[in-house]
Amino acid sequence: VLGSDGGFEELQLEALRLRRSAKWRTYPADVLPAFVAESDFGLAPPIRAALAQAVEHGDTGYPFAAALGEVFAGFAARCFDWQVDPAAVRPAADVMSAIAELLRALSQPGDAVVVTPPVYPPFFSVPLEVGRRVVEAPLARHGSGYVLDLDALAAAFAAGARVMLLCHPHNPTGRSFRLEELSALAQLAARHEVVVISDEIHAPMTLPGARHIPYLSLGSEAAQRAVAVVGASKAWNIPGLKCALIVTASETMEARLRETLSVHLGYRVGHFGVLASLAAFGQGESWLDALRRRLDGNRALLAALLAERLPEVGFLPPEAGYLAWLDFRALPLGDDPAALLLEHGRVALSSGLTFGSGGSGFARLNFGTSPMILTEAVARVASGVAAVAAV
Ligand SMILES: Cc1ncc(COP(=O)(O)O)c(C=O)c1O
Repeated sequence: VLGSDGGFEELQLEALRLRRSAKWRTYPADVLPAFVAESDFGLAPPIRAALAQAVEHGDTGYPFAAALGEVFAGFAARCFDWQVDPAAVRPAADVMSAIAELLRALSQPGDAVVVTPPVYPPFFSVPLEVGRRVVEAPLARHGSGYVLDLDALAAAFAAGARVMLLCHPHNPTGRSFRLEELSALAQLAARHEVVVISDEIHAPMTLPGARHIPYLSLGSEAAQRAVAVVGASKAWNIPGLKCALIVTASETMEARLRETLSVHLGYRVGHFGVLASLAAFGQGESWLDALRRRLDGNRALLAALLAERLPEVGFLPPEAGYLAWLDFRALPLGDDPAALLLEHGRVALSSGLTFGSGGSGFARLNFGTSPMILTEAVARVASGVAAVAAV
């Protein structure tokens, strides 16, 4: 199954179309899906082996996650030079249900939650689901990238926000926030007693040229009022198996969560998610390295293809992950390019409108696939643009 590069080059569309996940079943078979954040790569061999063994043994009972803290701590130390206390790691079913429970535990109904649009759409819907308000502090453009707007954050915090949802690395811009920005954020959070929930699900896919700085590694002051949510689900493509991790790094936050967080959280994890996450964090690093090389190559390929076929499309190469935030505003595709490209190019991107302020005229493309399928996706975008222009 796996070639010399780890199986990342040779994906077959006919085989991918046999998958029954959301990516492959949401649209008709003539649409090429490049929307939801699932990747197309095969399973890492240690994960495949762990799951096959579980099926072989009829090992489909309730989850037992005791080893996850230790195994994740090893990975965090090796990959991010981040010292994690294994006892301060709690399993949850997935990142967004973890965030829902953390919001319930760390804020009150009606409290304001700050988000940094354009941002992952559930950052708007999940706070609302648990009865909180959303306040936007949009990212700012600075030089070659997006940055946290510290003035906007300060204003939102001063106005009484209780929690901030940090998306780090950031979806959809692919930004890995810098030490200065994160430190300034931590100072603001301390001054205004705001809790920072740092969603670091994309961090294992930090690409060459960037460094992931875990928010909880900023120091004990920052860690007092912060929680991180991490997991193997994005990098190793196992979101359907349901396992994320909540991490703390201070006795203050540990005590708060012990008191307030639902004890049921850990029972809602998927058993296969725990088994696969143990394999990913414990034995999945060489596969992860190959993944990062492929994504680095795809990032360059995408830039080259856009320059050649769609020079009007703005693209800031992401620093982490496989999502590309494409700016179509120089083309006549209106507010929602994804809708027109689906209709006229038979390619499904994520609509920029769902990412909040700053999303109009943008669409997000998933390049977690083979070079050939990525090339086909860009060809479809180009033919969609040409078809719209001809109307
Ligand atoms: C920033 C971010 N957080 C959370 C998720 C979803 O994670 P989960 O399926 O574990 O809720 C995604 C998925 O794309 C994401 O991009």
